Amino acid sequence: MKETLPILLTGIRASGDIHLGNYLGAMKPAIENQETHDCYLFIADYHGLTTSPPPDQLRQNVYSCAAAWLASGLKSEKTTFWRQSDVPEVLELAYLLSCVTSMGLLERGHSIKDARSKGVLIKAGLFYYPILMAADILLYQADLVPVGKDQIQHLEMTRDMATFFNEVYGDTFKLPEAKIQEQVAVVPGVDGQKMSKSYNNGIEIFADEKELKRQVMRIVTDSKSLEEPKDPDTCLVYNLYKLIAPESKTLELADHLRRGQFGYGQAKKLLLEEILEGFFEMRQRYFFYIDHSSEIDALLQQGASKAREKASKMISQVRQRVGL
Ligand code: ADP
Ligand code: TRP
Repeated sequence: MKETLPILLTGIRASGDIHLGNYLGAMKPAIENQETHDCYLFIADYHGLTTSPPPDQLRQNVYSCAAAWLASGLKSEKTTFWRQSDVPEVLELAYLLSCVTSMGLLERGHSIKDARSKGVLIKAGLFYYPILMAADILLYQADLVPVGKDQIQHLEMTRDMATFFNEVYGDTFKLPEAKIQEQVAVVPGVDGQKMSKSYNNGIEIFADEKELKRQVMRIVTDSKSLEEPKDPDTCLVYNLYKLIAPESKTLELADHLRRGQFGYGQAKKLLLEEILEGFFEMRQRYFFYIDHSSEIDALLQQGASKAREKASKMISQVRQRVGL
């Protein structure tokens, strides 16, 4: 039965603690589809190496990402859940894809252009990032890839690479589609830019309460006084609140803001309460897994052997296609 379900795959880079943007943009839509899709969810630790973090930091990032996946409701008996580096076949596929991919395609990548404009040294690993990501997706023949808007270009590149390969070697790869939900395509960070692990502007839903409070209190607002009426649509606190609170509470907050005599500090307090309440059980599960990392290891190992079985079949087919 399972074979006929569409394949859904997504990965989270092991590069820091999970924030609301990661959860709403990629994790939640993946977790919600476990019953109706054959799901492949993984921790992209090779991708976490592009910034050369200290080894212990990378390992810790893998655990926090794994704990976040499991706490969010990942069902390891149904879904294939693994650490990218446990299935090194993906590196071979990345190399094979690199042989049909032009430098020009990679040069057009947003993150490369961005790094160029900042004048920072571009390592080959960063340049190669989209190829490895394409290999992640194509190795498992994914149909759908839930991601935030920042990853659309990577999905387009993946389709391009699959097309080039199919043109040269015959039909081999399916063309995957990005699955993007408009309301959470770009969750804003506490400074109003896209929330990102790299910008230090996250609301880390699994952080301890004190840290979470500090992050929520950092959300930027304009300088309107407590008494003045405020426009909810331009209020960052409200815009974050509406992503997680039920509609009735959201309408109530909008009303308070419009009427005035209601300060941004009070709105932030409501947002913090909503996070602590709404994510209460998830946070408990997260802390459980962080304290029981051997359970994480065992689950990842089981998942890796499942993933590897599929990956090795695909890689032998691809090797044959290219003449190896
Ligand atoms: P980050 O940008 O914080 O380093 P990742 O690159 O690991 O996060 O992203 C993991 C997943 O989370 C990707 O699918 C990405 O599109 C999604 N994502 C990251 N930030 C956001 C955001 N602010 N809004 C929506 N989705 C996001
Ligand atoms: N590049 C993604 C990010 O930075 C993480 C990632 C790696 C990924 N491989 C993937 C996402 C495959 C979806 C599918 O967010």
